Amino acid sequence: MNEPLVQFRSVGVRYGAGSGSGGSGGSGGSGGSGVSAVEDVSLDLHSGETFGLVGESGCGKTTLAMALMGLLPPAARVEGEIVFQGRDLGSLPESGRRALRGDRMSMVFQDPATSLDPAFGIGGQIAETIRAHRGIGRKESKARALDLLRQVGIPAAEQRYFDPPHRLSGGMRQRVVIAAALANDPALLLADEPTTALDVTIQAQILDLLRDLQQQHGTTILLIAHDLGVVAQVCDRVGVMYAGQLVEVAPVAELFARPEHPYTRALLDALPGATRTAGPLRVVAGEVPDLADPPSGCRFKDRCPQRTGDCDRTPPLADAGSGRRIACWLSPATRAAAARPASGKSTTSVGELS
Ligand SMILES: Nc1ncnc2c1ncn2[C@@H]1O[C@H](COP(=O)(O)OP(=O)(O)OP(=O)(O)O)[C@@H](O)[C@H]1O
Ligand SMILES: [Mg+2]
Repeated sequence: MNEPLVQFRSVGVRYGAGSGSGGSGGSGGSGGSGVSAVEDVSLDLHSGETFGLVGESGCGKTTLAMALMGLLPPAARVEGEIVFQGRDLGSLPESGRRALRGDRMSMVFQDPATSLDPAFGIGGQIAETIRAHRGIGRKESKARALDLLRQVGIPAAEQRYFDPPHRLSGGMRQRVVIAAALANDPALLLADEPTTALDVTIQAQILDLLRDLQQQHGTTILLIAHDLGVVAQVCDRVGVMYAGQLVEVAPVAELFARPEHPYTRALLDALPGATRTAGPLRVVAGEVPDLADPPSGCRFKDRCPQRTGDCDRTPPLADAGSGRRIACWLSPATRAAAARPASGKSTTSVGELS
């Protein structure tokens, strides 16, 4: 088997942790250990796959992606290792990480308006991204930018090349952002809610576009989404995050046919969609716990309809066969993994965080 493109190894992210790191305010942060936004996440992303990361608002999806991109604010502390193409990113200097961004890995955000400079033509911005990482001239970078605009379905690309972003619709702008993200043929594309700001028809078109581009370029995609409906359309595998922890991972068809974690089931139950209105997704009674003071053990336990006495201990994310991993005491796989004498790998527990 090929080495995974990305390996998250017991990754944790805390905001505002440590001695007086100031912080961008907002989230209470009473204790000295800050907000535990991501906790002990171990996950591999394989070359060429589209991996969906789902979970309610505030579960740490963006934080995990930003940790991979090296774009977390200074008040964030990262634990564990993130390995990209065999390199431990934590050991790279900032200049090395900058060289990777926009080149080997790039990111598409929810709101295309914030990703593009309103003062410049769309084509020139793509060409600029190319020149920043490749030693090529204006003519060549323009030709490549035009080619990219065509690939992402911008009609009359030559005429549109000099248009500033506001002349385009939201869907067209997101296509431009995707073109810019793909400009240097990255190995990894992180797409954080790339369709949430768009209306439903356009959403479907953008997802189709991502799928087509993935197939043409073989890019690995990490697609972050609130709901499973979106990932079902395009993803090969899905990871479900709850309150900073990865609770279940499975091939998409497996997950839909046989969701095991009670939280995954709740997400699926919320799917049919006809009665869903806009706004924060609330899949079960209660809320995601305050990550400045998360509950010990399984973080879902207070909302879980199947809570037992075991749930005060952290369930390890265990291999359950058929590509599935699950962290729930109801699963025989989790129980078996916990019973096994510690043999090294990946079943780390909360006690490891300082
Ligand atoms: N810069 C920050 N400083 C302090 N806490 C933060 C910061 N950014 C995020 N958080 C906290 O970290 C936790 C995870 O947030 P994150 O944005 O990663 O979640 P998410 O799953 O992407 O949510 P959403 O679906 O709303 O985008 C939340 O409790 C959030 O309040
Ligand atoms: Mg987010």
